[in-house]
Amino acid sequence: MTTESTTIRWEQDETGVVTLVLDDPDQSANTMNQAFKDSIEAIADRAEAEKDSIRGIIYTSAKKTFFAGGDLKDMIKVGPENAQAAFDTGTAIKRSLRRIETLGKPVVAAINGAALGGGYEIALASHHRIALDAPGSRIGLPEVTLGLLPAGGGVTRTVRLMGIADALLKVLLQGTQYTPRRALENGLVHEVAATREEMIEKARAFIDANPESRQPWDVKGYKIPGGTPSNPKFAANLPAFPANLKKQLAGAPMPAPRNILAAAVEGSQVDFETALTIEARYFTELVTGQVSKNMIQAFFFDLQAVNSGASRPKGIPERPVRKVAVLGAGMMGAGIAYSCARAGIEVVLKDVSTEAAAKGKAYSEKLLAKALSRGRTTEAKRDELLARITPTGDVADLAGCDAVIEAVFEDTGLKHKVFQEIQDVIEPDALLCSNTSTLPITVLAEGVSRPADFIGLHFFSPVDKMPLVEIIKGERTGDEALARAFDLVRRIKKTPIVVNDSRGFFTSRVIGQFISEGVAMVGEGVEPASVEQAAAQSGYPAKVLSLMDDLTLTLPRKIRNETRRAVEEAGGTWPGHPSDEVIDRMVDEFGRPGRSGGAGFYDYDEEGRRTALWPGLREHFTKADAEVPFEDMKERMLFSEALDSVRCLEENVLISVADANIGSIMGIGFPPWTGGVLQYINGYEGGLPGFVARARELAERYGDRFLPPALLVEKAEKGETFHD
Ligand code: NAI
Repeated sequence: MTTESTTIRWEQDETGVVTLVLDDPDQSANTMNQAFKDSIEAIADRAEAEKDSIRGIIYTSAKKTFFAGGDLKDMIKVGPENAQAAFDTGTAIKRSLRRIETLGKPVVAAINGAALGGGYEIALASHHRIALDAPGSRIGLPEVTLGLLPAGGGVTRTVRLMGIADALLKVLLQGTQYTPRRALENGLVHEVAATREEMIEKARAFIDANPESRQPWDVKGYKIPGGTPSNPKFAANLPAFPANLKKQLAGAPMPAPRNILAAAVEGSQVDFETALTIEARYFTELVTGQVSKNMIQAFFFDLQAVNSGASRPKGIPERPVRKVAVLGAGMMGAGIAYSCARAGIEVVLKDVSTEAAAKGKAYSEKLLAKALSRGRTTEAKRDELLARITPTGDVADLAGCDAVIEAVFEDTGLKHKVFQEIQDVIEPDALLCSNTSTLPITVLAEGVSRPADFIGLHFFSPVDKMPLVEIIKGERTGDEALARAFDLVRRIKKTPIVVNDSRGFFTSRVIGQFISEGVAMVGEGVEPASVEQAAAQSGYPAKVLSLMDDLTLTLPRKIRNETRRAVEEAGGTWPGHPSDEVIDRMVDEFGRPGRSGGAGFYDYDEEGRRTALWPGLREHFTKADAEVPFEDMKERMLFSEALDSVRCLEENVLISVADANIGSIMGIGFPPWTGGVLQYINGYEGGLPGFVARARELAERYGDRFLPPALLVEKAEKGETFHD
């Protein structure tokens, strides 16, 4: 018998097994929208009314994914005015799921594809969870990565399923997305099936074997594994949780982990229904706040726009790269070769000699040995990947390459030379890319005969881990080259942002502002440890002075001098930065050029490990008359990057707001809670006018570099925000 309800089909067979087929007719994926709320309510009514004819219930979906979770389009709009309505919808869905869970019949989730967030919460409201081992399928509760918590019973049920500690560490606080196999190993599902048929067979077998199945927590006398805070032994360990969490967040304004912790701990000490209410209240606080809006905008909407090709020229068909030449097998070249080979692309890795190139290939061997020891790859896959990388010192071996990624030393002359050497050997229309981090693409393109095919492909270190690639269009780069570069980056599973050529492009230029601001504060006599603390408390992954040391102090000096020369040659005036003097004194007067030189803002031991901030900083840099308030320290760093990003938009270096937000978080560590450099301005207290007022205040106190650019002022006056 088949009955239609809006988003869930009820299919009952002659043995009394009801399959609830999740299949929203209006969307490509199922979500917890209003229609689902009505449907699941109708299903619960019917299940109760026809209980005697039902032997068991199976949730599965007719879509590729099982269930996508909450509807983020709705969620980003929830404010204090409609919070109650959102709360009520959530409560109604949970009540219906609970009625089905406690019907007294076995309930199985046959998870045919991705079950993230709300999808996994439906599975948690089932007595038995079987996941189909489908490629790309992921299981987990990633709400924390959007500044939220799983309020469809996710906190309450994971705590009861695996105990507070495991629920927090394995599922809730990191938002880990598990493959079906890893979900099994970590206790998120009970079984994995190889085919859809096997999954349904297993579901039926469970129903046959467990006619009276109930959730463990609905059995009288059930105790949460590992205990709860009311148990003295557990209570003794509990204080470590908030302390660890505080360390992890370093004081950054990330309310979600805190609320998750509170909901888990408080919910563990009360009955199931009360726990659901506690969870919902903590969720409401998050969903109405600014941080979740920032994170949903960046990690859902912006990321989708970026990866789906909003910045890729339209109408140019894909022409997949077959064989790529990587020039230079140093740190970057080795990582680029590995990433390409991992994506199935043939790689010729060229350095000054075959031995030097082999050293670069050894990097892949090292990464793969590690992956193998952790069970993340097989010997066969390792061998296949390694076989795709041919190390060489001979230009002739580059024959047949239809793309080149150059990563030799940062020197214009050398880069021109290596492109000259290979031009006649590679395919006549090969894509020509440079991984330069600072040299103008337009200038590098002057060294090749086909500048329209020349483009910047700026990877970040370490290449195998960093998800971003900044694509830089030179003045003469053609759309075809841009489209091919974009497709290549997507193929190696990285996120491409597209910018126009300019010194430092977008990422290096903007992160330079952050570093300079931190260094400038040292020059003002601010306690160096406070500068580091301000960076950490703003949510930056790296402290500012330690980052400067890692990059070496001579690098910004070199870039500064080159930029100054260029500006002055063009008839402009060089504004300078208060950090310049600090850097000059550190290098010239104190001989402290950074980590590689054994001394910088920090002291280092023989093995190059950071020991402590150099005590001389406090001695040699004078105390300012006026103390810099801690809030100002934090905002000087954030504002310096946000304001420079607006200037990048004005100067047409940045083309898209989404690219700016994503590039800043994924490439240069702008704090994720802000939603990125431009979303930070949108979400600032008082919106754009509030941001402008605060920028003017900072300019008055610390210098004209904080004056809001014209574009920002104009948008603030018109009541606009930064959106594509
Ligand atoms: P590296 O010094 O580790 O490697 C450079 C390699 O190029 C060396 O193996 C060298 O033997 C090789 N090489 C020199 N002349 C050559 C020639 N004529 N033919 C073939 N190979 C030659 O340098 P790294 O760090 O890998 O940087 C390479 C490029 O990537 C530079 O342009 C750098 O600015 C850029 N970059 C570096 C980043 C970093 O974090 N290190 C980040 C992004 C870009």
